Amino acid sequence: MLSFKLVLSFVIAATASPILHLSQLLPRQDIETPINGSLPNVTIFATGGTIASQGTSNTQTTGYSVGLGVQQLVDAVPEILSFANIRGYQVSNVDSGSVNQTISLKLARLINEELARDDISGVVITHGTDTLEETAFFLDLTINSTKPVVVVGAMRPATALSADGPLNLYQAVTLAASPNAVGRGAMISLNDRIGSAFYTTKNNANSLDTFFSTEAGQLGFFINQVPYFYYEPAVPIGKTHFDLSGADSLPLIDILYAHQDMDPELFNSTVEHGASGIVLAGVGAGGMSRVAAAAAEAVYNATAIPMVASHRSPDGFVPADEDAFIVASGFLNPQKARILLQLAIQAGYDNDDIKNLFARGYPSP
Ligand SMILES: *[C@@H]1O[C@H](CO)[C@@H](O)[C@H](O)[C@H]1NC(C)=O
Ligand SMILES: *[C@@H]1O[C@H](CO)[C@@H](O)[C@H](O)[C@H]1NC(C)=O
Ligand SMILES: *[C@@H]1O[C@H](CO)[C@@H](O)[C@H](O)[C@H]1NC(C)=O
Ligand SMILES: *[C@@H]1O[C@H](CO)[C@@H](O)[C@H](O)[C@H]1NC(C)=O
Ligand SMILES: *[C@@H]1O[C@H](CO)[C@@H](O)[C@H](O)[C@H]1NC(C)=O
Ligand SMILES: *[C@@H]1O[C@H](CO)[C@@H](O)[C@H](O)[C@H]1NC(C)=O
Repeated sequence: MLSFKLVLSFVIAATASPILHLSQLLPRQDIETPINGSLPNVTIFATGGTIASQGTSNTQTTGYSVGLGVQQLVDAVPEILSFANIRGYQVSNVDSGSVNQTISLKLARLINEELARDDISGVVITHGTDTLEETAFFLDLTINSTKPVVVVGAMRPATALSADGPLNLYQAVTLAASPNAVGRGAMISLNDRIGSAFYTTKNNANSLDTFFSTEAGQLGFFINQVPYFYYEPAVPIGKTHFDLSGADSLPLIDILYAHQDMDPELFNSTVEHGASGIVLAGVGAGGMSRVAAAAAEAVYNATAIPMVASHRSPDGFVPADEDAFIVASGFLNPQKARILLQLAIQAGYDNDDIKNLFARGYPSP
């Protein structure tokens, strides 16, 4: 077992403010090492996941349990401390299927506060891989800073033969400390690859080689642990920033999966159960059966609840139909369209605003 020595210190706000900052409520953990003033400072926000998990044997790669804290993650790769000073926040310790809006809202606020500090070069978020792309996309739209925000995970638990977590973490910290990573939005870094949080998705439930974006491509790669970027920094078409200060919760949006014999009553029951919006993981380019579409339209006519059509295929584009009640997701997959719709409703957008928001991501002549 690794040692568990945490030096807990509370961050004291520089000025007396009537607003209680999250960082005053959550203990910031200084990793046990002297601070070297000439090194960049990187803060790790740990949320749990496989990267923080242990199995009962070195061959177990499913069914393991989450439990390692920030200190233990860094203890596994002390080499990191030779190029960055590390501090950490244990935001949660759950598998990513259990990451919810309480955790992502807390993360967004803490990271915005952290990156506003002059002495912080970048942040790393350790996260389970299953919903990693959702948190990364959420942070991409809600972090107001050009400093690197790197979301990292692992496909194998810390106890496995050839565990991928330590090198992934090493690379993520290198990336967060790199001046070349500034201005690239939130990034997903795993398995030597650097992807934009806007486009990257998990493609395989088990394989190490699972995070990439097929059509938009990757941002970069690690050569001997040094980040290499293929292009100068660029902003994805349609990316919109949302200010979440003041938000304690986010509206409930459900995703309905289209398939043969889809139950049309799902639209009614979803709304009856309190959804503020619906995303369709549609067949083809955002489709569903005629019966389901008629039911969806009847619910829309009666409630005006915003509905967004995405695609259940891993890749593709849903084109807009000007007359349709349902908004086209463009390139966004259902889980990312859900987050964009959630942020839009939270920001008070009406249905026309929502239509225009998604339209920013469509091709323009
Ligand atoms: C601090 O970091 C600098 C730059 O990497 C290095 O040259 C120096 O030896 C370090 N100081 C200590 C006390 O480790
Ligand atoms: C890292 O933090 C230390 C202590 O707060 C500070 O003295 C130093 O300037 C920071 N390094 C950078 C590169 O900002
Ligand atoms: C989210 O998960 C955390 C940790 O498990 C829990 O404390 C919190 O109540 C959950 N929030 C919601 C909205 O379910
Ligand atoms: C983002 O930060 C900049 C400067 O740090 C500030 O001027 C701007 O108002 C912020 N925008 C939002 C939406 O918070
Ligand atoms: C919904 O409203 C539109 C516009 O008023 C109408 O054309 C359409 O037939 C309605 N659809 C259903 C299923 O009621
Ligand atoms: C679903 O909701 C619509 C609109 O309120 C309504 O017209 C329709 O009868 C409902 N369908 C069922 C099966 O309850």
